[in-house]
Amino acid sequence: MLDALKRSVPPFVSAAVRNPKAVGAAAPSSRALAARMASAVPDGVDTPTVVEIGAGTGAFTRVASERVAGGGRYIAIEQDERMADHLERTIPGVEVVNGDAAELGKILADRGVTSVDAVLCGLPWSLFTVELQRRILGEISTAMAPHAVFTTFAYVHAARIPGSKRFRSEVEAVFEEVEVQSPVWRNLPPAMTYLCRGARGTD
Ligand SMILES: C[S@@+](CC[C@H](N)C(=O)[O-])C[C@H]1O[C@@H](n2cnc3c(N)ncnc32)[C@H](O)[C@@H]1O
Repeated sequence: MLDALKRSVPPFVSAAVRNPKAVGAAAPSSRALAARMASAVPDGVDTPTVVEIGAGTGAFTRVASERVAGGGRYIAIEQDERMADHLERTIPGVEVVNGDAAELGKILADRGVTSVDAVLCGLPWSLFTVELQRRILGEISTAMAPHAVFTTFAYVHAARIPGSKRFRSEVEAVFEEVEVQSPVWRNLPPAMTYLCRGARGTD
């Protein structure tokens, strides 16, 4: 009875209740935010390798993986086992990894990936310690090809909290160009996106 009840709770809600500090949201992102994030997948690369980190139940994955459907690889990394299972079952053509973003380099090396063309990221950065922000940003920038882009989002209302401000300065230390794009109002809560290029140390 209890097992049946647990299975009926959607995977995102269940993860948010079990581990609020790792999920950092009460609901998946909207289609409008997914479209913004997916627009970072490059058009000009024939067979791009795209990595998504903190894929959740696939709000971005569904939209962004369409952009590599003509050839290329889409690797979605998600730490929560139940959400990773859900991704695996519901989104074909995506390589799902139930793993930790802090191990990105190893995850990619195990799959024979030497560099990536785009990194899309849904991690709740503002809830992470500065050490964890730094560690994961280091893994991301090391994995990126010189022309690659990194995109992530932050909730507009949280822009002034210390974790958000810290993330902003960490990201500016890692990338030569950090574009803070206009807010996506059609998301609950509204979110702004970062588009970053020129990972230092990749050229
Ligand atoms: C705010 S949710 C975003 C989910 C989805 N991208 C969306 O926008 O609807 C953050 C996700 O990051 C995952 N996550 C948190 N820390 C992680 C880590 N170290 N490695 C991989 N995934 C992580 C959480 O389990 C959660 O699914």
